[in-house]
Amino acid sequence: MNAYDTDVIVSLLEERGYAIVRTPDSADCIIVNTCSVRDHAEQRAIGRLLDLSRHRDAVIVVCGCMAQRLGTALFDLVPAVRIVAGTDSYALLPDALAAAVREGGRFAFLDMDYDAYEAPTAKSSRCVSRYVSITRGCENYCSYCIVPYLRGKVRSRSADSIIREISSVVAGGAKEVTLLGQNVIAYRDGRIDFSGLAERILAETEVRRLRFLTSHPRDVDAAVFELMAREKRFCNHIHLPVQAGSNRILAAMNRGYTRETYLEKLREARRIVPGIAVTTDIIVGFPSETDDEFRQTLDLVREARFDAAFTFQYSPRAGTAAGERPDDVSAGKKKERLFALNAVVQQERARILLAQLGSRTEILLDGAAQKGEYRLLKGRTPEFRNVLVPPDSLSDGDIVSVALKRLVNFTFEGEVAAGK
Ligand code: 5AD
Ligand code: SF4
Repeated sequence: MNAYDTDVIVSLLEERGYAIVRTPDSADCIIVNTCSVRDHAEQRAIGRLLDLSRHRDAVIVVCGCMAQRLGTALFDLVPAVRIVAGTDSYALLPDALAAAVREGGRFAFLDMDYDAYEAPTAKSSRCVSRYVSITRGCENYCSYCIVPYLRGKVRSRSADSIIREISSVVAGGAKEVTLLGQNVIAYRDGRIDFSGLAERILAETEVRRLRFLTSHPRDVDAAVFELMAREKRFCNHIHLPVQAGSNRILAAMNRGYTRETYLEKLREARRIVPGIAVTTDIIVGFPSETDDEFRQTLDLVREARFDAAFTFQYSPRAGTAAGERPDDVSAGKKKERLFALNAVVQQERARILLAQLGSRTEILLDGAAQKGEYRLLKGRTPEFRNVLVPPDSLSDGDIVSVALKRLVNFTFEGEVAAGK
């Protein structure tokens, strides 16, 4: 989401004649886009801002969730900051920058515009694989999460405008589009829901691959999987954050599903789309989580067959429901649990990936990788698995058929089938 927002900001500024420079030394303006999901992310952003404060001639801007959360307090925390721009005010940045240069002083933009969401779109040149935002905001209020307070209510972009943006990035060379939102399944434009939108995109644009991020397990329904099974271009991968394996913790997190209903969703997904890859997010050390409840998370990971999992230590966020409770799992215990969880995640990941060896699949090439003295090309399978292949006569954006030959550090090495 932040990568996309950064592209939006860059596009807005480029339209006004600004250009990206390579080093902060040569910048007239330094923009730091921030995340507030965990305290660690904020501490790093503040550290970076303090460090960048050396560049006295540049206008320093903070945007994103931390800007929204801390507002004008950022002027005290980092005195060199000149502009604080919250999550809905990127469109104001070009004028604000001009004013900051002309008049000096400080500016803060923190209004959240709940009604209109025809967001400025990103026109950046990252080509093969592009993000397209379809919803902003979240109203799920998971008890640990700060996002609903900082990104506001769910707003969906009109299907027509999404299709226009996708057609235009495809015309510019994009082969793959990832639809973005805190919970894309909440998408609504009149009678069009998320699967209706995906269906229209596949029918009305030439995009070769369509993906989405993120979906809430409570909301995702069979229609999404049925479309995936029917449409080869709709990639067989779902990121479905489970967060925890204990029903008591899931209820305390306000997630709206149980371990059993989550696992049933996975069974349904795999029944409809047999090869589907599932990735997830997991939090350890939520307030009052016991050793036994944590073990239920480990068991779930063993049962769920995740391709990968992003794992986090719980970080209390002021203003959230869980943030009001004592953060009573010690730092040492959280670390221990994270370590144990990662070990199981990696073990399961290896098991799933090893089972793919020898199979044939298609990859979309999207960059290069250096392996020792060899230059290889890097691609992704529809399941979002990494594959390296020899460059031969291939280039970025090609979709080629490969056999998966070896697995090194969770990345496959593939052999390209003759004739692409
Ligand atoms: N502490 C730890 N992890 C969190 N996440 C969200 N809020 C918190 C928090 N307070 C994680 C969730 C979410 C991912 C984006 O970040 O797992 O899915
Ligand atoms: Fe946060 Fe829950 Fe919304 Fe995800 S669904 S952004 S975890 S409140």
